[in-house]
Amino acid sequence: MVMNKLICSKCMAVHFVEGETDGSCPTCHLDEHHVYNFRNSDEFLEKEVPRVLEERLDLGLQGLAGGLSFVIISTEPDRQREAVAEFLRYTDFIYSDGFEDDSFRTCVLEAADSPAVLIRSRKAGTNPFSSFNTAPKAGHLPNTRLETFVFSTPDLGRYSSIQSSRGVHFQEESILDTDSMLFTQTIPSHFHGCSFGFVQWKGESGNFRTPGSSGLDWEFEKPSSAHLNRIFELDHTATRVHAQQRDEAIIEFMELTNYNFSLAIYVKGFNSITSVARLSEKDFAMVFTSGILPDNGQEDVGPTEQFIRNYGTRVHHLAFRTEEIDSTYKALINDGMEFLLELVGSPEEGLQQTFSLGSPNTLLVNEYIQRYGGFDGFFTSGNVTLLTESTGRQ
Ligand SMILES: [Fe+2]
Repeated sequence: MVMNKLICSKCMAVHFVEGETDGSCPTCHLDEHHVYNFRNSDEFLEKEVPRVLEERLDLGLQGLAGGLSFVIISTEPDRQREAVAEFLRYTDFIYSDGFEDDSFRTCVLEAADSPAVLIRSRKAGTNPFSSFNTAPKAGHLPNTRLETFVFSTPDLGRYSSIQSSRGVHFQEESILDTDSMLFTQTIPSHFHGCSFGFVQWKGESGNFRTPGSSGLDWEFEKPSSAHLNRIFELDHTATRVHAQQRDEAIIEFMELTNYNFSLAIYVKGFNSITSVARLSEKDFAMVFTSGILPDNGQEDVGPTEQFIRNYGTRVHHLAFRTEEIDSTYKALINDGMEFLLELVGSPEEGLQQTFSLGSPNTLLVNEYIQRYGGFDGFFTSGNVTLLTESTGRQ
């Protein structure tokens, strides 16, 4: 007799049903569009992806969401300065502007050919992300997370009107209109607590100042270390989501952007799937990592679901493209950076990577990644296995 594992997207419960099933949720009685047989495969996703692509075309969303323009990382007010200093020390980003308005104090970090990184803290108002920041190892930093991924759009009015008609909720009723951009962002995703923002630049991108803001008098010294010249743009980020929400998190992301599901690497021994969504081969890639099986409350849940137990669903790491990674890795160690594991992979395999320890100021891990000429995959399963294992040490 076949044992089916049904996951309901409404009640989020896992139901074990023996034998034939009509695919509806035994609790909510939702039909099979909302309930699917959870068999640790890409079957459901492969069925849904063509539907999402068709819907994007029908709604006129194709071409309305472009590449990643910037990300917003929120910190506690008293850790913001240290978070910026640390970012300058361990990446090639420079501090290009700082300003504050009534709501936020914002530091802008930029690197060539890369999405920018805004590190900011809240000065007033409620934090719509706070309910996602309560896990045992994250609760002491209730305002800290990578909050928003901001993608460019050629027509924000049209984009937000189409998405609103689909039932997408934005944080503010009206679009923020500054000298240089139009901006809006969704409420945090139920699946991982990150928001998706959209920006329409009026001219050159890169002026983030808001109306009524004034310049910050903070100064930062950019280290002149030669190895920082071998660290480049933001290559990808990885967001941890629960096993039973993995498919829906990817579908939600595809429905909000023009990204497509690209590939998934299953690491069965560690109950982990690394799923990659891409816009093009050159663009920033969005990675979601989840369990294969849901967290059953047991000890051996695997490092990915264990991370979520400890830190909640959130972005786990920012990956930076790196050259001469061997010497760069050693130079970072000499400069005091600590790592979860040694370099994995090799030039022969086409890929080398490593993870730093999580930052005490942002909770984010830095990944350094070098792909070698001729490597046509995005990841290798050998590296993904070792990297996944290392996160069990967090
Ligand atoms: Fe990664």
